[in-house]
Amino acid sequence: MRPTRSSTRLGGGSAVEGVALERIARDIGTPCFVYSRAAIERAWCEYDRTLSGIPHEICYSVKANSNLAVIDVLGRLGAGFDIVSGGELERVLAAQVPARRIVFSGVGKRDAEMAAALEAGVGCFNVESAQELDRLAFLAKMAGKRAPVSLRVNPDIDARTHPYITTGLHENKFGIPVGGARGLYARAAASPSLEVRGIDCHIGSQLASLDPFLEALDRLLALVDSLAGDGIPLAHLNLGGGLGIRYRDESPPPPAALAAAIAERLSGRGIVLMLEPGRSIVGNAGMLLTRVEYLKRNGEKRFAVVDAAMNDLIRPALYDAWHDIVPVTPREGDSEPYEIVGPVCESGDFLGRERRLVLEPGDLLTVRSAGAYAFVMSSNYNTRPRAAEVMVDCDRYHVVRKRERVRDLFADESVLPPDSTSS
Ligand code: LLP
Repeated sequence: MRPTRSSTRLGGGSAVEGVALERIARDIGTPCFVYSRAAIERAWCEYDRTLSGIPHEICYSVKANSNLAVIDVLGRLGAGFDIVSGGELERVLAAQVPARRIVFSGVGKRDAEMAAALEAGVGCFNVESAQELDRLAFLAKMAGKRAPVSLRVNPDIDARTHPYITTGLHENKFGIPVGGARGLYARAAASPSLEVRGIDCHIGSQLASLDPFLEALDRLLALVDSLAGDGIPLAHLNLGGGLGIRYRDESPPPPAALAAAIAERLSGRGIVLMLEPGRSIVGNAGMLLTRVEYLKRNGEKRFAVVDAAMNDLIRPALYDAWHDIVPVTPREGDSEPYEIVGPVCESGDFLGRERRLVLEPGDLLTVRSAGAYAFVMSSNYNTRPRAAEVMVDCDRYHVVRKRERVRDLFADESVLPPDSTSS
């Protein structure tokens, strides 16, 4: 296994691993996402190595970046996968990962999705409500199977992150309140078509400190002990994902610090620890490459209009998120404050604000920390084809998703028949 160093942020220089970014931009065009295989592997291995003293499974959260190449690279390391839809199930299976390494999370699983996951033989269903539990039991009975289950409890902990990505407060839609969990476990244990495996939670994303994780862990362990007293022993405890990364000047604990703190509390218990990290595996292992089209000035404001937009990276518009933006080849001269904006017809279409840069039209920029929740949240707004994705592997690069073609964007649309007249 190659990776050894702890994870760093990609995109500060003119190359990724051994490949020049100018070359990728010239060959593939912009906008384009670039990922580093080594950086992805390093981040996953950091969790795995630190947890080597206790039984564990690191299930990469596919929603962060679901490209088949990312799934494949992690699958080869032995990763498990956290999925939230039938679509993600198909992707992971298409990457030839054994279904037992998959955990199926999500607050609104539909019958067809659960049936497909049962058929494939996923390792666990993370169940979020009493109704879902009953539905799963019914579907498993119909299929003549026993569904492996974990209940996602809502530990009511403030993860102190952006309100849109806080999930472990009692007012959030996620999970089962701690108070109601024991009764539901008893119901699950009594069902012949369910097999109680574990307990899980996920309290939010982009967490900046260990404290909320450890508070959640303590609440879950208290429940694990009461359930053991009820005669319901659990094989695993899944603490979800959520560890933050550095976008600007944040200093979240590294994966090794989180893993070590958890391992210390769990050692000797014999329970398998599961984690579902997404952002901390791929976030800083990717970037968005974009070219400056125009420079313009409206009043006091200077704008750099680039060829990437909110449809490619919606995080700044949606969460007011900050992504570092740096020129691939820095210029000499006096910097000016620029609004870095895309071509989409909305004033919310910005990638960065007030960035002091020295720019000329045609310059190549990298928008850093764009490996997670970037391409996966992109859209075709303004009939913009979604960007290409590239993975660098040492001194080679591979196009792991072709740029979409405009004609494909409306290929499944149709006009009304000629004989339908307007009333
Ligand atoms: N497990 C569950 C059940 C989750 O809901 C999530 C993320 C994860 C694991 C992975 O969390 P991570 O390690 O990546 O923080 N679009 C937002 C982030 C949404 C996170 C949703 N759930 C963003 O761009 O910041």
